[in-house]
Amino acid sequence: MSTPSPDALAELRYQLLDWYDAHARVLPWRVPPLEGKGGKRPDPYHVWLSEIMLQQTGVMTVKPYFTAFLKRFPTVQDLAAAPLDEILGLWAGLGYYARARNLHEGAKAIAALGGFPMGEAGLRSIKGIGPYTAAAVAAIAFDLPHVPVDGNIERVLSRLWLIQAALPAAKPIFREAASRFEHPHRPGDFAQAMMDLGATICTPRNPICGLCPWSKVCKAYEKGCANDYPKKQPKKLKPVRYGVAFVVLGPDGLLVRRRLNEGLLGGMLEVPNLAWRDTPYETDACVLQGFDPRADWISCDSVRHVFTHFDLRMQVLAVRLSEISNLEGYHRLAPEAVSQAALPSLMQKIIASGLKALNLL
Ligand code: ADE
Repeated sequence: MSTPSPDALAELRYQLLDWYDAHARVLPWRVPPLEGKGGKRPDPYHVWLSEIMLQQTGVMTVKPYFTAFLKRFPTVQDLAAAPLDEILGLWAGLGYYARARNLHEGAKAIAALGGFPMGEAGLRSIKGIGPYTAAAVAAIAFDLPHVPVDGNIERVLSRLWLIQAALPAAKPIFREAASRFEHPHRPGDFAQAMMDLGATICTPRNPICGLCPWSKVCKAYEKGCANDYPKKQPKKLKPVRYGVAFVVLGPDGLLVRRRLNEGLLGGMLEVPNLAWRDTPYETDACVLQGFDPRADWISCDSVRHVFTHFDLRMQVLAVRLSEISNLEGYHRLAPEAVSQAALPSLMQKIIASGLKALNLL
């Protein structure tokens, strides 16, 4: 990858910004390019919130969550003052729940500072804001010359300059490549233009090169090998883990408890379930969980769930009881309240499987 000349870089910037002016996606956290050119900037709270939600999650999924969050927490101060439970409840279904816990910690820090730090270094001192988010907020909210590098942008760059280095190990090489575009002229729009190009034109499979403002200079287009980029290190096979979950319905609702505030699904609600391990459970799971095996347990459809580092197979057992003795740490959740509760998708799927077996869905 030879270093492009300053003129070539300037030309690329203008081509992309022109394209963005005509084709920018309309997004609820975004100021359209025309208004941006008139001096309007987006609210840093909106930019930060959207960037945290967009990590690992697509724009279409994020939109309704973003709108619901702003309705309930119109300012960063409102978010800082809210109980964590309520934030986790609104976040339920978006996954990667550490993001929501960090969002709350971040909001408290920002509120205590009296507002958002305006530079990239200050932003990075906030819990949950890493190099990508700091660069994105600095560029988009404050129009500072940074180029955030996410998966979309890595793909665009790898094709444009035929970068051979394999991801994710080569991330520093991509950051270096992106930094060539750092420039005080419309850095916020440039960052968003790169994101839009990656999401709508320079897509992972079968990019629409005929509509790309960079097709005349794109090395992968020239060679007809866009689908081969970015180069990726071979993926490790994901381990499989096994658990057993219990959907226990009494007169006052389903047995649930809150998980500890750290780790996977931290702070979210769960139904009773056995520790996840590398081998399936074969002995009587009810006994292991401390339930009476003589009750009318129904074996339900099992549930699979994909986490970043492993696949989970959950056996599901359900029972309807006329009374439930008090179980330490557990409370009851009415089945009607399930969709609104701070239940991660995994638990929603488990409860749906259990309620279906009990003929309640
Ligand atoms: N993906 C990540 N951040 C984004 C943004 N600000 N706009 C559109 N897509 C994005």
